[in-house]
Amino acid sequence: MAEIGLTGLGTMGTALALNIAESGHDVAVHNRSPEGLEAAMDRAGAEGLRERLVPCRDHAALAAALDRPRTVIVMVSAGAVDAVVADLTPHLDEGDTIVDAGNADFNDTRRREAALRERGLRFIGMGVSGGEEGARHGPSIMVGGPEESYAPIRGLIEGIAARYDGAPCAARLGPDGAGHFVKTVHNGIEYADMQMIADAYGLMRDGRGMAATEMAPVFARWNEGPLSSYLIGITAEILAAEDRAGGPVVDAIVDSAAQKGTGRWTLIEALKLGQSASTIEAAVAARSWSADRALRAAGAEALRLDGGTCAVPGDDVLEAALVTAKIVAYDQGLALLAAASRHFDWGVDLARVAEIWRAGCIIRSDMLDDIAAAARAGLPHGALVLTDAFRPRVLAGLPALRETVCAAATGGIAVPALGAALAYLETLRRGRGTANLIQAQRDFFGRHGFERVDGRDAPHGPWWDDAPAKGGGETGDPE
Ligand code: 6PG
Repeated sequence: MAEIGLTGLGTMGTALALNIAESGHDVAVHNRSPEGLEAAMDRAGAEGLRERLVPCRDHAALAAALDRPRTVIVMVSAGAVDAVVADLTPHLDEGDTIVDAGNADFNDTRRREAALRERGLRFIGMGVSGGEEGARHGPSIMVGGPEESYAPIRGLIEGIAARYDGAPCAARLGPDGAGHFVKTVHNGIEYADMQMIADAYGLMRDGRGMAATEMAPVFARWNEGPLSSYLIGITAEILAAEDRAGGPVVDAIVDSAAQKGTGRWTLIEALKLGQSASTIEAAVAARSWSADRALRAAGAEALRLDGGTCAVPGDDVLEAALVTAKIVAYDQGLALLAAASRHFDWGVDLARVAEIWRAGCIIRSDMLDDIAAAARAGLPHGALVLTDAFRPRVLAGLPALRETVCAAATGGIAVPALGAALAYLETLRRGRGTANLIQAQRDFFGRHGFERVDGRDAPHGPWWDDAPAKGGGETGDPE
């Protein structure tokens, strides 16, 4: 009999099953296609773990192979979860647990958890980050679901997770969809961080005319400083890598980025919650634009404009700009998490989130240790950039971010994520913004009313008589 089951032996599922096996647990495994099951068993054999895996040809066999109460990890693409759960549940009994370890829309996780609870089954939504390498040797694990459902498997989950200073990078962060929401925001930050790096790459390539191999040592050096992170490290490696056909491999790759949906989900939820994760939005938009190659080919012809030189600032300035923008990406991600936690009454501990992101996941970076400490001390107005730890870094880096975005604009080079970070910081810095004009416009065309700076009771501009404002002088739009 096996302690735990896993269905869905794709790249991540196989790696996770082997990780569980290696940490000393017997795992019953199933895959829809027999070839996938065979491939996983072959790999287990090659890694000396075959004895710990129990191959099962269908979900009935999987259920029969498990100790009770059963726990089955589902590791399939988001669109396939409902079908797998429907096929699996007839073979499960009251008190058994299904763990969805894929990237799922947390709204689906909430729905599934509620529906299965009605039937006496337990459901956990578990975000797993770290790619194949992480899944195999220690991912960061973000758990959402009832405490009593997580308690029996907590030891096993912590045992397979990455470790930071000896502590497991796995935690239950709240009920129902909290884990998948945190994973989604993790991916949103991942998108923003990747785009910021791509913005810097674009400035070096198109503004300075640098070759990939010349940039590689710059990124490698940055990886020794405040930017030290998994994504900067792999960028240095990627830029140095030679294509099998010769030349830098990065130059042989089509400039159209794919996306599976987590970045988009982050934005949709941000907007629903009245938040704006603008750096993540910029990154998702940049991927969407990148996907339309025909449009960009037409634009390259039709919008040709000569002139405009780009005086790209030095490496140190670029580095400081990246540091500053990266802080903004984390700031916006954490603010969104806080808003969701308030809205859904999840009680997510932001410091704990940052702590379990310190190792194993794609956005792991040296900065996260300080972010965890800052979140633990409390975020003034919910803003990381206003904390004692990060305010000085933002102030020190802001001129560099300005210089970088300014040089990019003058030279006609798009830096969407860096630009979004700058706009956010400059907006935050202005005591008096420009929304007074927006309010005047809204009142002018729709009699929406506004609040006056002097507190006087005159909710309309002179373009209307003094009739009461719609909705009692509201200043925000109804849902
Ligand atoms: C991780 C990654 C992982 C996956 C992304 C890629 O944390 O391990 O985020 O979940 O690589 O989903 O997402 P896109 O295909 O949307 O870039």
